[in-house]
Amino acid sequence: MREQLEALRDEALQLVNQASTQKELNDVRIKYLGKKGPITEVLRGMGKLSAEERPVVGEIANAVRGVIQTELEQRLVDVKQQEMDAKLALEAIDVTLPGRPKQVGQAHLLQQVTDEIEDIFMGLGYTIAEGPEVEQDLFNFEMLNLPKDHPARDMQDSFYITDEILMRTHTSPVQARTMLASKGEPIRILCPGKVYRRDEDDATHSHQFMQVEGLVVGEDISMADLKGTLEAFVKQMFGEAREIRLRPSFFPFTEPSVEVDVSCFKCGGKGCNICKQTGWIEILGAGMVHPHVLEMAEYDSTKMSGFAFGMGIERIAMLKYGVDDIRHFYTNDVRFSEQF
Ligand code: PHE
Repeated sequence: MREQLEALRDEALQLVNQASTQKELNDVRIKYLGKKGPITEVLRGMGKLSAEERPVVGEIANAVRGVIQTELEQRLVDVKQQEMDAKLALEAIDVTLPGRPKQVGQAHLLQQVTDEIEDIFMGLGYTIAEGPEVEQDLFNFEMLNLPKDHPARDMQDSFYITDEILMRTHTSPVQARTMLASKGEPIRILCPGKVYRRDEDDATHSHQFMQVEGLVVGEDISMADLKGTLEAFVKQMFGEAREIRLRPSFFPFTEPSVEVDVSCFKCGGKGCNICKQTGWIEILGAGMVHPHVLEMAEYDSTKMSGFAFGMGIERIAMLKYGVDDIRHFYTNDVRFSEQF
């Protein structure tokens, strides 16, 4: 009997030592210490033993059970620890791994140039104004002295949504909107934004591009103010040495109207490929606000006068940063954007 119990003990202890999971330990416990286990069996059969044998066998059986119990508990602590260690090792974060680099973007060149132009004019006391890109014929044309069937409408063919609503062809409708809203008060605004024209796209034309409009209305505003303002702008944008030149032109909403050239910043006026050997580069259209345009917006043109100008932002950006094709601005190739 004693040998039998001791053999059971050794067998159980060996299994306990080999067990590496909580489940395996539990299986051992059920097998040897459970109600149907061999030790319980021995204890149950004690009734058949003699009075001298009974306490001896009982003591051995209890001792064997005690040893197995203690070893099981001890091993359970170890196994739990091992399982925890393994889990922690799996979940460990390797702080020595190099991080995934985040790509830092930057403002698009058109946005950068728009900001530059805004900064210069804000320094001259201008505020920024905006208007809708889907515009009424009324503001895009009629309030700017371009009644229906006016031949000058042909210069700016548009995308029409209805007979009376179109994609604006220039930022000049913001002039009309601002004047109407200002109720005869002085104005000094700058308006950048997208414009649309029914145009064939090529290296210098796009059906959608950007303009920035300037408008100043007040008492005693003269052509000299326009010239001084544009000169200050050009010097800040293209360098102190730059000069401007005004050539007569025509816009229905300004009178007189001018085309403004800047002296070539590459050759300084001698003539090169950028200025097409003329020494001058055309950069914008401008003029004194037509009295009829002032009157339509309820200004008294005998007391108030004003000037306006409009320029293409892509053209300014192409000149200043040497971009050779307007389509580069819209194709979203980061190899282009990253250069600026
Ligand atoms: N709106 C004109 C154009 O798009 C430019 C311009 C603006 C001319 C303001 C004079 C005054 O061609």
